[in-house]
Amino acid sequence: MTSQLEQAVLQDHVDLRLIASEQAPGAERNQIVQLDPDHPGFRDPEYRARRNRIAQIAMSYQPGQPIPEAPYTAEEHAVWQTIWKALRPAHETHACAEYLLSVKRLAFDTERIPQLSEVSKRVEAISGFRLEPVAGLVQPRVFLENLANGVFLCTQYIRHHSTPLYTPEPDVAHEIIGHAVTLASEKLAHLNRLFGEAVRRTYSADRLSLLSRLYWFTIEFGVLREEGKVKAFGTGLLSSAGELGEMHKANLRPLDPGAVFEQEYDPTRYQPILFCAESFEAMYEQLRDHLIGWR
Ligand SMILES: [Fe+2]
Repeated sequence: MTSQLEQAVLQDHVDLRLIASEQAPGAERNQIVQLDPDHPGFRDPEYRARRNRIAQIAMSYQPGQPIPEAPYTAEEHAVWQTIWKALRPAHETHACAEYLLSVKRLAFDTERIPQLSEVSKRVEAISGFRLEPVAGLVQPRVFLENLANGVFLCTQYIRHHSTPLYTPEPDVAHEIIGHAVTLASEKLAHLNRLFGEAVRRTYSADRLSLLSRLYWFTIEFGVLREEGKVKAFGTGLLSSAGELGEMHKANLRPLDPGAVFEQEYDPTRYQPILFCAESFEAMYEQLRDHLIGWR
């Protein structure tokens, strides 16, 4: 049984991979999402039905098999178009060079939501990482440990069309535009793998929560300096045009794992504190060395 502390560590708007308290053995990857009454899609029976269908795909998925296609509607493809329209200029201004290169490598269709199977093939050819579908709720340890195997567990549904630029939970836009793109960078993919390996060597909930914080403030919300400007490499920033545009208002602290471990965060709001590396290379080397040395 997972402790309260272990459950809390990735409880956030982008990696809400939680957790029913009682789970059947082997079911931990695929708990179906329950929408809260304040969820934008709560009162939309069609959306809820589609969410359940997409969740069923993940629940019946067997690792190693082709990922079944998710049935997106024209309205949902329009959400994807709206997200890209907002993100494209925000990326040009605020995304780090490595991210912009990786977007080009994946060459997305911005008119329609790509299927996970297509994206996974392209990412795997670059870094060896595969995407695998999950219904939405996964134990933080399960999510992080899969990274050690080069597997990124992805949700497949898209946010509700009434709020195209907001999602209270990780959706396919965050997974693909944020995580899949960064996994098409060999160095960022390597760091994800090292996080997974470090989690595997971590037995206490307290130590797991430290690694989760480091993941949050780097892979999810990391920034770095590039030619004198602050640029984003974190997937939570890079998949949210709103937060990307506001990130310069955050209090920037030098990237230092010891300071990150002390820093709490509130996942329900724009991050008021971000940790900033001196460069992409400095970030990569600092995290790589810390994670390899993690005991
Ligand atoms: Fe995420």
